[in-house]
Amino acid sequence: MKILITGTTSGIGKTLSQYLESKGHEILHLDRDQLDLSNIDDVKSYDMPCCDVLINNAGIDNRDDVIDADFDLLEKTIQINLLSPIVLSSKFAKTNPTGTIINITSSCVNSNRHNTILYSVSKFGLHKFTELFRNSNYQNSLRVVELVPGKTKTPMAVGKNDLILEPSEIAETVDFILKNQNINQIYIKSY
Ligand SMILES: NC(=O)c1ccc[n+]([C@@H]2O[C@H](COP(=O)([O-])OP(=O)(O)OC[C@H]3O[C@@H](n4cnc5c(N)ncnc54)[C@H](OP(=O)(O)O)[C@@H]3O)[C@@H](O)[C@H]2O)c1
Repeated sequence: MKILITGTTSGIGKTLSQYLESKGHEILHLDRDQLDLSNIDDVKSYDMPCCDVLINNAGIDNRDDVIDADFDLLEKTIQINLLSPIVLSSKFAKTNPTGTIINITSSCVNSNRHNTILYSVSKFGLHKFTELFRNSNYQNSLRVVELVPGKTKTPMAVGKNDLILEPSEIAETVDFILKNQNINQIYIKSY
């Protein structure tokens, strides 16, 4: 399959792209040097290629307190983690109506931890978008999948020293999703 992945320069995206390539898939890397996902105008004018799968993986963390939030960082967080995946999903659905979209959210969508409000809001938005977009496409053949990882050993999770997942486990799960057409959500708990 031809698979377009955002954020393949590090962490989950890097391991995922290498793993899927080793399984014989053709990987189209969509990294910051081709498209800065924090620039909405560039994302809106992005020319979506013809491919089988889009994996919205790129993301940034934001642990700001709401009251003292850096509003520019807040805007960037919503842009990269929520708006860009929505725009890319919409473009992909138009260009590749029988394809598969995999959105990487986070286990924080099911958590009440108060130290990740801004990040969680962006991921919860993507979680809800994925569910509603899937339901709105139930009559045609677009497949819309959500992968919900727990804490994973990547640069984003530096400093978290409790039990965490390996990026290779996320990559294997994506491979499993691609081989099992009936799955539309997988939650991987890290503890
Ligand atoms: N690690 C965890 O514990 C965990 C848990 C649940 C969900 N997730 C999710 O998994 C996904 C991957 O995260 P990760 O842990 O692998 O993080 P990571 O190692 O920090 O990688 C993030 C990727 O996103 C790219 N990116 C960031 N800002 C970008 C921008 N403006 N334009 C284009 N690309 C941009 C980065 O590119 P650059 O190298 O250019 O910055 C990098 O390739 C994220 O959506 C994250 O929310 C992670």
